[in-house]
Amino acid sequence: MNKIPVSIKLTHPNDPILQAKMRWFMDQPGCSFQTGEPDLLPILHLTRKGIFLDDGQNRLSFHPNLAIIRILQGLRGEQDRFLVATNVKPGQTLIDATLGMGADALVAAWKVGESGKVIAFEHSPLLAALMKEGLLSLKDKQLPRIMNSLKLNAWKELILASQRIEVIWGDHQKLLTELPESSVDVVYFDPMFRRTREKSSSIQPLHRYSDHRPLQQEAVQEAYRVACSRIVLKERKGSSEFVRLGFQVFNGGRYSQVDYGIINCCSTKEETF
Ligand SMILES: C[S@@+](CC[C@H](N)C(=O)[O-])C[C@H]1O[C@@H](n2cnc3c(N)ncnc32)[C@H](O)[C@@H]1O
Repeated sequence: MNKIPVSIKLTHPNDPILQAKMRWFMDQPGCSFQTGEPDLLPILHLTRKGIFLDDGQNRLSFHPNLAIIRILQGLRGEQDRFLVATNVKPGQTLIDATLGMGADALVAAWKVGESGKVIAFEHSPLLAALMKEGLLSLKDKQLPRIMNSLKLNAWKELILASQRIEVIWGDHQKLLTELPESSVDVVYFDPMFRRTREKSSSIQPLHRYSDHRPLQQEAVQEAYRVACSRIVLKERKGSSEFVRLGFQVFNGGRYSQVDYGIINCCSTKEETF
């Protein structure tokens, strides 16, 4: 995966907290950060209010917006298609093999509860570092002005969930080979869509820094070896990826643009993949 060099800029260069954050980022595996004059590089801004990447056109930062809405819906008893598709349960371990901006990982970490765990792989070193820092920092977050107790509860649950996610930089195909057989419950893939229609400014920076390769059959085979419950793939509705990779499409979400495909592990493990 290409390493795009990024410059780091501190709004308050003498602030010891920002200096420590800069050292932390520079220590992250795979990243190639540079200090000093930016010289047309994308800039990672470390500010007292937060951290964001600015590539001159768009900004990218960690924000658990989507996850908080989904946890709120979950607390109201509404169904989440991702949770239904993964069938992940309290106490279980889920591997999110394509972390991205972490919404699905946070929702899974909420569902597995305090005795469960989410291991999240991300091949982009910059995204992995941004996500790791964002998740770690959530516990120190000043909660926004809360409108009602359900929303306050959702934020508290989200903060607890964020601490159950272990972010690992690397290619999921390789990382999965390092795990023992049947050592987790669910492996989840949400690769970048091969035919993307998402041109919005919020998704553009993710596109620039993420790994766009299609999911490999070998990665699915490794997931099958590692998972004991199921493997789940999220893809565009009607995508030929489900057939190519051997997933059975999970019905539901008639109006949604995405579908989930499932490979059940427990029932089929005796058969050849
Ligand atoms: C569509 S995004 C995932 C979005 C995520 N589910 C969420 O809720 O925000 C896909 C992410 O997977 C990462 N990715 C793609 N291939 C990968 C691989 N082989 N190993 C690890 N990460 C990968 C991309 O860099 C990208 O950040």
